[in-house]
Amino acid sequence: MRFPPSFLDAIRARIPIADVVGRRVTWDKRKSQPSRGDYWACCPFHGEKTPSFHADNRRGHYHCFGCGVSGDHFTFLVELDGMSFPEAVTELAREAGLQLPDPDPREEAREARRTGLAEVMEKAAAYFEKQLAGPDGARARAYLRERGLAAETVARFRLGYAPASRNALKGWLAEAGVKPEEMAEAGLVIAGDDIPVSYDRFRDRLIFPILDFRGKVIAFGGRALSADAQPKYLNSPETPLFSKSRVLFNGQAARASSARGGRLVVVEGYMDVIACVAAGFEAAVAPLGTALTEDQLQLLWQMADEPTLCFDGDNAGVKAAERAIDLALPHLKPGRSLAFALLPEGQDPDDLIRASGREALSAVLDAASPLAEMLWRREMTRGPLDTPERLAGAEKALKSAVAQIGDADVRRHYDELYRDRLFERRRQQSRPGAGQGAPFSGGNQRGAGRGRAKPGGFAGRPDWGEASPSLLSTSLVRGAGRAGAAISLSDAILVGALLAHPDLAGERLEKLGDMAFADAALADLAAALSMELSQEPDLSAEELAARLKARTPALPVSAVTGKLASAGLSDLLVGGDASRAAAIWDDAALLRLRTTTLSNARRAAARDLAEEAVEGGLTRLKDIQEEDLRLRHRAFDEERTEAVLLHPFKAR
Ligand code: UTP
Ligand code: MN
Repeated sequence: MRFPPSFLDAIRARIPIADVVGRRVTWDKRKSQPSRGDYWACCPFHGEKTPSFHADNRRGHYHCFGCGVSGDHFTFLVELDGMSFPEAVTELAREAGLQLPDPDPREEAREARRTGLAEVMEKAAAYFEKQLAGPDGARARAYLRERGLAAETVARFRLGYAPASRNALKGWLAEAGVKPEEMAEAGLVIAGDDIPVSYDRFRDRLIFPILDFRGKVIAFGGRALSADAQPKYLNSPETPLFSKSRVLFNGQAARASSARGGRLVVVEGYMDVIACVAAGFEAAVAPLGTALTEDQLQLLWQMADEPTLCFDGDNAGVKAAERAIDLALPHLKPGRSLAFALLPEGQDPDDLIRASGREALSAVLDAASPLAEMLWRREMTRGPLDTPERLAGAEKALKSAVAQIGDADVRRHYDELYRDRLFERRRQQSRPGAGQGAPFSGGNQRGAGRGRAKPGGFAGRPDWGEASPSLLSTSLVRGAGRAGAAISLSDAILVGALLAHPDLAGERLEKLGDMAFADAALADLAAALSMELSQEPDLSAEELAARLKARTPALPVSAVTGKLASAGLSDLLVGGDASRAAAIWDDAALLRLRTTTLSNARRAAARDLAEEAVEGGLTRLKDIQEEDLRLRHRAFDEERTEAVLLHPFKAR
C-alpha cells in the first residue's frame, strides 16, 4: 500500500524522532541537549564506546558520524528492527493516534482476495506440517534426518510433507470450508477445463513453505523424495499472492538478521538457505529456481548495501556471476554494490557446510570479490593481452561495461580505477627485457613484491619470467596484497599439515623437498621440518614443534598455524583429523604440481620457439596458454584456487 507523503509528514510531526530512537538506545546525558531536541548516544547500528549517533528532533532525522547510517522514523524501524515500510508506518500511525488513509476500493477488493488466499495457504501449510509429523511422513522424516536437519530447523522453516495422494489436501481443505476455485487460485490443486477432476499439485513431496516479507505463506516448493521423480523441485504457480521473481526464500528472517548486522548471502536453493541458517548464517536467501531478477536485486539492496552472491565455482557458476554483474551495473549507487563468492566446483553451500563445516563457508564468503574486481577479471581474462590491439580490445570492453553504470559518481570511480590499472599493466609490459623469449605470452614478472625470493634456497623459487598476462592480471588484481599475505594459504597447508601430523610425512617429504616456497622464512621452515623428520620419522607433533622452536633464526610456525586457523582448516592443526589433513595436503600438492608443470612447459615451448622450432613451439605455446586460461578462468586467481580447491571440501 502507498502512503501519501502528507500522511508520513503528519506522523513525523507528531512523534519526535528521539522517542522512536530512544527505545533502543541510552542517551548520553552530558552530550545531549534535550531543550534543543538534540540527542546523542552510542550507535545501535555499529558497536562503539563513545557516542557518535545523533538524533535531531527539529529535523526529524538521525545520523551516525561513526558508521554513516542516517534516516527518519520509518527507516529506523525498518533498518534496526527489520520491519517492512508499511509495518513501520502502521505502527507509528497507531502511536500517533492517526487513522491510516482509506485505500481505494479496487485495491481493497484485491487485498481482501489475497487475504482469503493467504488463509488457504496457511491452512495448507499447517496440513503439510501435520503430515510430516504423522505416520505418512515417516519416509520424509527419514530423508530429512539423513540430510542432517535438526528438528528445530524443520520447525523453524515449517517444513512439511504432501502425501502421495491425488486428493488428500483437496479433501482436507474442502472439509475446512475452502472452495474449489480458491484451491485452484492458490495453486494447490491442478484444475482446468480439460481436467475432469482436479487433483493435488504436490504429491509425495517434501514441502518448503515460501513466506512473504510479512511472514505469510504465499507459495510452496516441493522436493521429490526419490531421485527419479521429476521434476526434482516443483513450485507453486504464479498466483495473486505469489510472483516468483519478486520473492526471496527466507526473505523476512534474512532482512531482520541483516538489519542486526548479519551478512546477507544469496545462495541458489532452498536447502542451501536452510543449511546456511542452521550453521548460523541467518541472513541467507535464495531466488526461487530462476536466475536472480532485477526485482530481487532491488529487494536485496533494501536489506543490505552489499549482498554477497554465492556461485558454484564451475563454468555455469561463473556465467551466472557474470549475468549478475550485468544486471547490477545500471543500478549501482554510492555505497551500494555486490560481492561475489565462488564455491568449490560441484558443491553448493549445503554440501560445503556438511562436508567441511561452517568455517569452510565462512572462508569462501571472506574471500568474496567486489563487483569491480569481478568485472575487471572478466574482461581481462578473456584472452592474452600481449599486443596493443588486444589490450585496446579489453579496454574497450571494460569501457562499455562501465558505461552501463547509471550513477555518475560510481561510474567515474570505475573509470579511474580501471584507467590506473590499465596504465599499470602497460607500464609492466613495456619494462625493458619483458617479453624476451616468449613473444606471445606477454613476458611479465609475476608476483612483484610478493614475498622475498630466496635464490638457491630450499628448492628455490620457480622462474615465473614467462608467466602469461592472464597470470599477471591475477597478481595485479590482487594489488598490493593483504597484510600478512606473504605466506600463501597453499604454502601454509603444505608445511602446516606436516607440522601437525608428522606421521603423514613419509614419502610426502620428498615431494615437499621439490617444492618452491616464495617466502624465504617458510622455505627455511620446510627445510628444517624435512631435516628433523628424515632423521627421526617417529617424532610427535609436540616433539617436532619443540625442536623447530629451538632453532635460530626463528621459524614462522605460528604464522603458518595462524593462517590455517583463520582459514578454518582445523584438520591441519594439532589434534585435527589426520586423514582429512592427508587428503587436503595431497590436493594442495597436486595443484602445485599442475602450476609448476605449466610454467616448465611454457619455458620449454618458449625455448623451442627461440630455436626456431617455430611450428611445434607455437602450437605448443598456444595449447599451454589455453590450458592456463582454462585453469585461471575457473579459479580466477591463485589465492582463490587455493581457497576453492584446497579446503577439505570434497566429500570423501
Ligand atoms: P539444485 O538442483 O541445485 O538443488 O536446484 P539443491 O538446491 O541443491 O537441492 P538438493 O540439495 O538437491 O535438495 C537449486 C534450486 O533450483 C530450483 C529450486 O529452487 C532449488 O532449490 N529448482 C531446481 C527448481 O525450481 N526445480 C527443479 O527441478 C530443480
Ligand atoms: Mn544441494
